[in-house]
Amino acid sequence: MKLWAGRFSKEIDPKTNDFNSSISFDSRMYREDIEGSIAHAEMIGACGIIEAQEAQAIIAGLQEILSDLDSGKLVIDPNAEDIHTFIEGELTLRLGQTGKRLHTARSRNDQVAVDIRLYLKKEIVSLQAQVKELIEVLCRKAKEYAFAVMPGYTHLQRAQPITFGHHLMAYAEMFLRDLGRLQDAYRRTDSMPLGSGALATTTYPIDRTITARLLGFGSICQNSLDGVSDRDFCMELASALSILMVHLSRFSEEIIMWCSWEFKFVELDDAFSTGSSIMPQKKNPDIAELVRGKSGRVFGDLMTLLTVMKGIALAYNKDMQEDKEAVFDAVDTVKMCLTAFTPMIDTMKVLPENMRKAAAKGFINATDCADYLVKKGLPFRDAYKATGTLVALCIEKGTTLEELPLDEYRRICDVFDEGVYDAISLENCVSGRKVLGGPAGENVQAQSERVLRLVQEMK
Ligand code: ARG
Repeated sequence: MKLWAGRFSKEIDPKTNDFNSSISFDSRMYREDIEGSIAHAEMIGACGIIEAQEAQAIIAGLQEILSDLDSGKLVIDPNAEDIHTFIEGELTLRLGQTGKRLHTARSRNDQVAVDIRLYLKKEIVSLQAQVKELIEVLCRKAKEYAFAVMPGYTHLQRAQPITFGHHLMAYAEMFLRDLGRLQDAYRRTDSMPLGSGALATTTYPIDRTITARLLGFGSICQNSLDGVSDRDFCMELASALSILMVHLSRFSEEIIMWCSWEFKFVELDDAFSTGSSIMPQKKNPDIAELVRGKSGRVFGDLMTLLTVMKGIALAYNKDMQEDKEAVFDAVDTVKMCLTAFTPMIDTMKVLPENMRKAAAKGFINATDCADYLVKKGLPFRDAYKATGTLVALCIEKGTTLEELPLDEYRRICDVFDEGVYDAISLENCVSGRKVLGGPAGENVQAQSERVLRLVQEMK
């Protein structure tokens, strides 16, 4: 029997019921639905809208339903329209008339809005914990490899020397901003819509501050139409998660490259790699590839939410039932990705000798060679040109700037002296870049300590 039975003379068509029902994906909010109902019952009891004893009976009944659902004694009916209907129906089965009083001064529209917010608030907290863990792993690894010289790239061409620690801390900074975005999303999710009713509140003398306090909300939605229609918090979370996935995906792409024989900068632990069904030599970075691939799902979820919401007149429309699968999928996907990604990074073997070898090729100290001439008084453009000529000469001779004899240097520009070899040593090139934000080992150490402290203070 449907909630709206009085107005209708027939049961809903069974296939249409399946189409209309959200129970398969909103049943995961049963705990939040019951928490919301308990707070509502307590409030309408306290405000004298229902008898105090009835409120007590409803609360006890709801607590019992919760523990029966937790223990598996009560199984959710897959044919129910949604979780709200199922729980209210079960309460009425257990309490009779009294159960029917729960829905006084409430609508499923404000009920579902409060459920999603309660549910997502918990999810945001657990997402934040996972991101913090990843940042901590990065900080520890960055500190360990603060002085490991590697080539830095632009256009995927070797560009200037950096350290592996510096590279890892670049990601730590991105994830730190992701944490900030999750914090913002939390703040705006933390506003209570209950009491908005279907769209225009109620004439019952409810007290929304009581429910907000009982449910632990930081604020109360100030306009009832907005209270039931707002899904910004879902879009905001999905958008924060999409940006986080962009970061995870870029990082994954680098891991995939670094694992190849062409780079061999890192080797993934066997527990986080996979083999091939036919090629016995293969060790594949499937986890990183899947994370990169799954970013598409999360962007899709964001696009779903934006599209669902963009054309619907105020207030509630059934289109909005589509919000849940999208935002839940975004949350589940990111949690799954982080669960595999963080230990993969934590356990990966870093091969600093290979990084150092790659750094020795590709003339990544050419800028420093030019800067050396500038320090000796040459204008930068002349220094740039002289160094370019030297690089061309090295390529022709199959040698490096480090190995090129001084007389060759001096033939191209007589300002050069022995000091050039010091100026272009990769270690000096890196350690000389100690301005704020630079790759010098001491910088990396300080940065990783600072970020670690920041993250630990957030706990
Ligand atoms: N299952 C519905 C949803 O997720 C609950 C709200 C139903 N409200 C209504 N007016 N039909 O959106």
